[in-house]
Amino acid sequence: MLNFTVDTEKCTQCGECARDCLYGIIGMDDHPFIREDKEDKCIRCQHCLAVCKPGAISIFGLNPADSAPLDGGLPDPERMETLIMGRRSVRRYKKAGADPALIRHLLEVVSHAPTAVNQQKTRLTVVDDPEAMDRFRERATTAALKVIREGRLPDGMERIADFLRGCESGEDVIFRNAPHLLVASAPSDTLAPMADCHIAMSYFELLANSHGLGTVWDGIAKAVITAIAPELQGVLGIPDDHQIICVMAFGKPAVKYHRSVQRSGENIFRAVP
Ligand SMILES: Cc1cc2nc3c(=O)[nH]c(=O)nc-3n(C[C@H](O)[C@H](O)[C@H](O)COP(=O)(O)O)c2cc1C
Repeated sequence: MLNFTVDTEKCTQCGECARDCLYGIIGMDDHPFIREDKEDKCIRCQHCLAVCKPGAISIFGLNPADSAPLDGGLPDPERMETLIMGRRSVRRYKKAGADPALIRHLLEVVSHAPTAVNQQKTRLTVVDDPEAMDRFRERATTAALKVIREGRLPDGMERIADFLRGCESGEDVIFRNAPHLLVASAPSDTLAPMADCHIAMSYFELLANSHGLGTVWDGIAKAVITAIAPELQGVLGIPDDHQIICVMAFGKPAVKYHRSVQRSGENIFRAVP
C-alpha cells in the first residue's frame, strides 16, 4: 500500500526514519520496515524519505533523488526580515501579466505549505491570463453593482456596498486592476480549512514578493464571490462543495516602496507561567 522500499546498500541503519515517523509506523530490524498493524495510520508526510541522509528510502514509488536537496541554500535571516517587513499591500498594478510559467512554479512551491494532518485539500484556483481576468473583473463588477442597485445585498454588508459604489465611477475597488487572482478554497470535510488556506496564501504572498510581484489580500473580492454574487464561484470552476477561504489579487506592481512601515510591537506579550 505504501510502496515503501529501502536500498540496503545505502541504508546506514541509523534509525532516523523510524524516530521521525509521527505515528511510529516504521520499525527497525537490520533495516527499516513498515509495521503492518500501523500502516493505515500513515499521513503521507514523506518524512522518512526526507530525513534519510543517504537517500536510501523510497515511499509511494518516489525516488529520493527527485527531491530538492537541502544542504544549505536557505535565505539568510536579514533577507527574510526584509521580505516580511518590506511587503506591502499593492493596489496599483501594471497591465501586463506575470509569466504564466512563473505563476505555475510559485504555486507548485506553495503546495509544500503545511496542512492539518497533511490533508492537502487546499485548492488554489488561479486566473493567470490577464484577458480572462479582465472578463472576470467586468462580470464581477456588473453583478455586484446590480445586487446593490436592486437592494438585494446580504445583511451586514452595507459597509462593503459603500465601498463597491466606487466601481460606478470606473475605479476597480474589487480587484485593484490586478491582472491575476488567486482563490484558496477547501472542501467541507477538511479538518482545518481556514488555517490551511491562509497558510498557503501567506506562503504564496511572500514567495511572489521575493520574485518582484505585488499582492493584496482581497477581502472585498471574497465577499463579492462568496456572498454578493455567489454564481461567480462556478464561473471560476470552484466546486460547489468548496468553501472559499481567502482571495488574493496579484501582478507586477506599478508602485515601489522605498522603506518599511514601522510597527510598535505592542501586540507582543511575554508569558512567564
Ligand atoms: C484578510 C484581509 C483582507 C483584506 N482585504 C483587502 C481588500 O479587500 N482590499 C484592500 O485594498 N486591502 C485589503 N487588505 C489589506 C489590508 O488593508 C492591509 O494589509 C493593511 O492595511 C496593512 O497594509 P500592508 O499590508 O501594506 O502592511 C486585506 C488584508 C487582509 C489580511
